[in-house]
Amino acid sequence: MVDWLKKAVFYEIYPQTFCDSNDDGIGDIEGIISKLDYIKDLGANALWINPCYDSPFKDAGYDVRDYKKVASRYGTNEDLERLFETAHEKGIKVLLDLVPGHTSEEHSWFVQSSKAEQNEYSGRYIWTNSWYEGIEGRPYIGGECERDGTYMLNFFKCQPALNYGFLKPEKTWQKGIDDPDCLKTREAIKDIICFWLSKGCDGFRVDMADSLVKNDDDNKSGTCAVWRDILGYVRTDYPEAAFVAEWNNTDQALVNAGFDMDFFLNWTGNGYNSLLRDYETPGDDCSYFKADKGGDITRFLDEYLPRWEKAKGKGSISLLSCNHDTPRPRKNLTIPELKVAYATLFTLPGVPFIYYGDEIGMRYLDLPTKEGGYTRTGSRTPMQWDSGINMGFSKAAKEMLYLPTDDAEDAPTVEAAMADEDSIYHVVKDLFALRKTQEDFDADSDFSVIIGEKDKPFVYTRKDAICAVNPVNSEKSVKVKELAGKNLIYVIGSVTVDGDSLKMGKGSFAILK
Ligand code: GLC
Ligand code: CA
Repeated sequence: MVDWLKKAVFYEIYPQTFCDSNDDGIGDIEGIISKLDYIKDLGANALWINPCYDSPFKDAGYDVRDYKKVASRYGTNEDLERLFETAHEKGIKVLLDLVPGHTSEEHSWFVQSSKAEQNEYSGRYIWTNSWYEGIEGRPYIGGECERDGTYMLNFFKCQPALNYGFLKPEKTWQKGIDDPDCLKTREAIKDIICFWLSKGCDGFRVDMADSLVKNDDDNKSGTCAVWRDILGYVRTDYPEAAFVAEWNNTDQALVNAGFDMDFFLNWTGNGYNSLLRDYETPGDDCSYFKADKGGDITRFLDEYLPRWEKAKGKGSISLLSCNHDTPRPRKNLTIPELKVAYATLFTLPGVPFIYYGDEIGMRYLDLPTKEGGYTRTGSRTPMQWDSGINMGFSKAAKEMLYLPTDDAEDAPTVEAAMADEDSIYHVVKDLFALRKTQEDFDADSDFSVIIGEKDKPFVYTRKDAICAVNPVNSEKSVKVKELAGKNLIYVIGSVTVDGDSLKMGKGSFAILK
């Protein structure tokens, strides 16, 4: 893991809906630049910006048409370079989003690849040998191109899979991972990474990082080998560049592929999901942070602890408040519940990520799909800055907005949250400030669980600090011998310590040192 990540706190920006500087209804790079002081003041020192490249936007930009060109709706390449510079002046690093597994069907590589005559790009995507030969077990498209063959998709219909080869080719059209065509794909991705790093970008969040090699084995050994090559190459010239994988597998992403960070993603029924969004069964939300039904931390720890052992010394398992694919945590958690949740997430090991708007408790809205968002659309609404027109996001006419704002009477805004000392915004800000000043909360500082049982406060150490969490509706008391000599340095709710006795009021959190 690169050194600067130890102190990093990431803020994810969905460029469409963060801040619109020219009042056309859609967020843009100039808008992001204008809010860098806000982000710095909150205490975040790194950004992850979702894809901002030229695209037909059938998957909100995850369908890239030109990797080296900023989408005109967001501005120009020069604007993006200015964002890097201005952010750096303020001590903020910037990660872009890399989509290496597929392009848009409108990318010039694909346009070339789909031509009948052989050309430089014929092998850039995964094509079968004839129009009537399908691809077993994978989505594919036929009948749309001049070329006599069908091609594999990586996600939506608009996203043909780039060709990194097959671990064990079985058909004549399946190439090995070191086939010249597959090596060319890798070179093209290295070139894109270095292009943006040379302009001042500090690294990448990597989309579907585990998806490159097809028919890979259970360990994803083919895909890991490809990443070792790509990251090894890039790090020779850019040793400080940081890479975070959308992978959700510590062994593979951190140990074998060489990423600095891997997300613990919201996959139904997994350890992370059990913390904030365990509401697959309607009316039966058993999320750990739910005051009335939660309180069982073992579902998280059973998965997290083995991962953490493996991540030690290798990189960060990054916990996030949310992302652009996930329901906002406010969907089911109240503000008091969220405070305890954030305090826990942001004091556990690893490099934390907060999604824009989560710092004020923005809601998940029930909206029709936009640009391939479907149920994700409700987490992508405009940032709520103030009580002005369109909540300060844009001065465009309401019907021009990329997505509607939250028009509830009590919709949170940055302006109101900053003015209210008791708001969730101040909890987030205080926690980020603690991370800045106390080494105990560096991403790689020691971590051990003192109490991790159902129906008891969750108590853990971070270096010389002890954290205690009680998310439920009732008071909990425990004896913790490690508490001797420690003092409370941060509290949410009511917490009392007397020697080694710890009394945690309902919905409380404490840090002692
Ligand atoms: C990732 C992105 C998601 C996108 C998909 C296809 O999961 O986070 O938004 O739709 O990949 O690129
Ligand atoms: Ca705009």
